Amino acid sequence: MENSPSSPSPLAGEGGGEGVTTCHLQFVSNWSETDASPDIRISDLGGLNMLKKINHIAVAVNNIEEAAKFYQTVLGLNLSGVEVVTAQKTRVGFFKIGESNIELVQPAEPDSPIAKFLEAKGQGIHHICFEVDDVEAEVKTYLQKGATLIDQTPRPGAHNTKVAFVHPKSSNGVLIELCELPKNH
Ligand code: CO
Repeated sequence: MENSPSSPSPLAGEGGGEGVTTCHLQFVSNWSETDASPDIRISDLGGLNMLKKINHIAVAVNNIEEAAKFYQTVLGLNLSGVEVVTAQKTRVGFFKIGESNIELVQPAEPDSPIAKFLEAKGQGIHHICFEVDDVEAEVKTYLQKGATLIDQTPRPGAHNTKVAFVHPKSSNGVLIELCELPKNH
């Protein structure tokens, strides 16, 4: 659909070219409700979308080094950032692909949530992680919108991130992680 100059909504121009939506969002975010014309209200936007990108897709594995062989030898990727995330009882390793990563995640303790996942479902995709500016603000907004969160308060994630998980029952069976990078990143 063509975006006519008299279009009332700043978000009406989907497909209007890269950067257009972002530009409009920045434009709108400088507004207060009182500044908005009767045609455009911030509340009409359903809350501003603050998801920045897919930071990683996580794959549950029995052993990172074993599983890494496929990614290294077949896909030609480099394993990096292997660390234990104590707060989540997991051990993780990353393969960078463009702006995103594949995260391999294995249990660090027998009672790790990943151990339970592996037992129930076997190895495979575990969660999708969206990068956000402010994980606390996102959690608050999602709760207001009726979503169920596993973490109502963010907790420490890998590489000094702050993370919170959305319960899969709110998202059609997909475990969603929100992560906020350290500010000095
Ligand atoms: Co993750």
